[in-house]
Order: sequence, then C-alpha cells, then structure tokens
Amino acid sequence: MMPVQNTNVTGHAVTSGSEDVRERVLRYAILAPSPRNTQPWKIQFKGIERILVSIDHERLLTACDPKGRQAFLSTGAFLENLDLAARSFGYRADIDLFPEGWPDATAIPDTSIARIDLIPNRSCDEDPLFLQIPVRHTNRRPFRKEEVSLSIAGQITESFDYTRVSFGFSNNRDLIASLTDFSGDAMNIELSDLKRKNETLKYFRFTDQEARESPDGIGFAQSGYGRVSRFFIGNFFLSRDRATSSQSLFLKNAVKKVREQTAGAGGIGWLSTKSDHRIEQIRAGRAFQRIHLKATSLGISLQAITQPLADYPDMRDLRSRLYEHLGTPDTHTIQMLFRLGYAPPVPSSPRRDLDAFLAG
Ligand SMILES: Cc1cc2nc3c(=O)[nH]c(=O)nc-3n(C[C@H](O)[C@H](O)[C@H](O)COP(=O)(O)O)c2cc1C
Repeated sequence: MMPVQNTNVTGHAVTSGSEDVRERVLRYAILAPSPRNTQPWKIQFKGIERILVSIDHERLLTACDPKGRQAFLSTGAFLENLDLAARSFGYRADIDLFPEGWPDATAIPDTSIARIDLIPNRSCDEDPLFLQIPVRHTNRRPFRKEEVSLSIAGQITESFDYTRVSFGFSNNRDLIASLTDFSGDAMNIELSDLKRKNETLKYFRFTDQEARESPDGIGFAQSGYGRVSRFFIGNFFLSRDRATSSQSLFLKNAVKKVREQTAGAGGIGWLSTKSDHRIEQIRAGRAFQRIHLKATSLGISLQAITQPLADYPDMRDLRSRLYEHLGTPDTHTIQMLFRLGYAPPVPSSPRRDLDAFLAG
C-alpha cells in the first residue's frame, strides 16, 4: 500500500491504484485536521465493504483536551472527508454513529465511533468540495491586512447544514482586538502548566529529522515561519532542549505568535452547538471541515485558535468571559474558534501511512 506523500509544495499527493475502494476513500479521510496533528483515529475493515472507526487512545491529548472533545471534532472532519470521497468514487457512505451504543459526554469509548458501509451508487453527485481536500491546510502565516467580507461569510455559511451547528462571524476590528487578548491569555494559561506544555512539546517537531521520524505533529514549516526565520529559530533559538528546560522561552514565543495571528485576522468565525453531546461534537467537526474546504475554494486561509475553548478547570474563567463576549449562552458549547483571511499558501502537514491507522 502506498503512503499519502507530503509533497511539501501546496497539496497532498494522494496516491491510488488500490482495488479496495475503502483504501481509496480513507486516503482522503486521513487528510482531516486534528488537534496538534495527532491523527487520533484507528481503522478496522470488516467483510468486504465495512469500515469501523474508533479513537486511538494513545493519541489523545489528556492534559490539553481532557474530555477528548477535540478528538471527536477531528473524527467528524475525518467522516466528512470520507463521505465526500465516497461520493466522488460513485459510492454512498452509510455512516452509523456509535453502532455499539451511545457513550456519555465524558467517557471516550474503546468501541467504534462510526460504522461505515460503502454502497455502490452511480447516481451520487460529486460534491465540488471534494477537490479541495488535498489542498486544504491550516495556515499560520501572517495574513494580509484585508477584511473578509460579510458576503464571503455568507457563502461559507451555505456550505454546511447550519440548522444544527451555528456559525458566528465578525470582521469588526474591535472584536478582533479583544480576541487577540483572549487568545494570548489562553495560550499563557495552557503552557503555564507543565503537563500541558510537555504534551504540546511532544507533538512539536523542532528539526527536519524529528519531522522525518514522526509523520504527525506540527513543525516549524507549518508554524507560520518563513524559511530563513525557521532556520535561525530552529538552530539557534528554540531547540527541544531549550524549550524543555526554560520555563518561559517556548511559552513567550507561542503567546507572541498567537497574538500576532489573531490580530492579523481578516475575520473571526466560531461554531457552536446547543449541547455538548458526542454527536454534536462530530456534527461540528463535519461542519468545520466543510467550512474550511469552502474557504479554501474561495482563496481564504483559515487557522483554528482553540486554546480559549479548552475544557480544563484553569481555563474556566477565561472561557466563560469569552462566551459572554461573543453572546453565546453558557448552556451552549462553542466547539471551534478560527481566524480567516488572505495569505500565501503553506506546505502540507505530514500524515502517517494508512497502514499505521489500520494496524491498531
Ligand atoms: C479540534 C481542533 C483544534 C485545533 N486547534 C488548533 C489551534 O488551536 N491552533 C492551530 O494553529 N491549529 C489548530 N488546529 C489545526 C491542527 O493543528 C491541524 O489540523 C493539524 O496540524 C493538521 O494540519 P492541517 O490542518 O494543515 O492538515 C486544530 C484542529 C482541530 C481539528
């Protein structure tokens, strides 16, 4: 089986040629976004047409994402990609969520999150968003000083079923300035705790060699640094040893970066659901993926900025102030927060070989 290759240009090269349509659709599914690029999915094949998807517990961020909410969001994005790919190959993906029973909102089950049967169906229409899957990337580079208009936000809203997942959007400079403080303060809270900092460092790739050895995580290339600053930061300023031993070096850099990123947004979007059941997290993940694919098709860059939404107790006060600020009732859950704008393209982030997901 051929791996999904990282072209390091602007798009993932998705190899094909395999006879089994499940492998073909899964090569697109694993291009879904995931927190810190953890790729927290396990896949099993049953019979000749069934796929079972579960969460890989080894890849959960237990300190930064203690409820596993972000893992479920990324599983939603995975299922959206899978569905889009199946359609374009002439199949209907029958997706049953939690076929072995409904989990509660806090447990992360070992059992399947989704059971998928791929049924040949020549009358399925290809969704044009499918073509965006290999070229959708999280863009952490500085965005141009250009507003994302309300008309663009309107087009983005039409890309998903907004009756179940609400989409908020603003391009107001005052709101963006206040969110800059929220995101910087939240990053400070996140990295001030040693366990959360170590979890972040675990998925940060400081050198090209680290990136080659682990096709997951986020490296300097994906962090919004240009080639020259990448070289200087990686070689002289921010090594794994320094970031681990210094209390503040990595933290200060991350706070500065996220403040610049938020301040440079051309617009801010957020997705919320009425409750926080697992199924709503999956729905929000599917909606988020469609939004990101639609934005990509419109030439708009997107970066999730989710530290202010974290579920651990240290973030509680900041999070409830954020809800108040965005006018979201505290009975609802803001599932995703992201900046939108215009920027040059970024290299793709790595993915593990499909075999690695199937082995688990
Ligand atoms: C639930 C969730 C939360 C995320 N939070 C952040 C975030 O706070 N900051 C960020 O830069 N990227 C965030 N991301 C983006 C991931 O880091 C990104 O998807 C991953 O590194 C893979 O890269 P790609 O999106 O370019 O394929 C998040 C993604 C998901 C699904």
